Amino acid sequence: MTALLEVEGLVKHFVATRSVFGRPTAYVKAVDGVSFTVEAGKTLALVGESGCGKSTVSRLVLRLIEPDAGNVRFEGRDLGALGANELRAFRRDAQIIFQDPYASLNPRMTVSQILSEPLALHDLVPAPRRRERVEELLRLVGLEPRFARRYPHEFSGGQRQRIAIARALAVEPN
Ligand SMILES: Nc1ncnc2c1ncn2[C@@H]1O[C@H](COP(=O)(O)OP(=O)(O)O)[C@@H](O)[C@H]1O
Ligand SMILES: [Mg+2]
Repeated sequence: MTALLEVEGLVKHFVATRSVFGRPTAYVKAVDGVSFTVEAGKTLALVGESGCGKSTVSRLVLRLIEPDAGNVRFEGRDLGALGANELRAFRRDAQIIFQDPYASLNPRMTVSQILSEPLALHDLVPAPRRRERVEELLRLVGLEPRFARRYPHEFSGGQRQRIAIARALAVEPN
């Protein structure tokens, strides 16, 4: 059986300092040869001190940034070789929950709008059934369905993170 996720020799260096002419003079080796495999249904925790490259690995895996070297295979397929349509499907299959839910949730949208957006975008649930699905998602992460009418600032940090988790689950990612 192929693994859900195979990461091989991932490298990403960032420019740390530049000369007055804009030429890079030093690099941060944020990710420097990282490999791992995740089987379907398993959990992998990447642990390390602040600034060691954990978030950069996550962003590389989701193709939010391009690696300098190495490759990522998702269900056996090389992400670097995906076309626009396949990449769109991958954007549904793999979800990220950002560290700071306040920055990742639109403050002008209600929870109902936040959770309905991916359902509409990916054509998952027809409009009349979305409200029901939003309430189901809220229950799934331990929040009350009536919270759907509220805005992100009306929640605690932990509750906001649950909303971000509900949004990630909304599209039924692999
Ligand atoms: N876009 C960027 N430009 C320049 N340096 C970056 C960028 N993103 C991350 N870095 C640097 O790469 C290193 C790893 O960062 P990060 O992956 O966020 O670490 P972690 O998530 O483990 O705390 C840090 O030194 C950070 O300053
Ligand atoms: Mg981080």
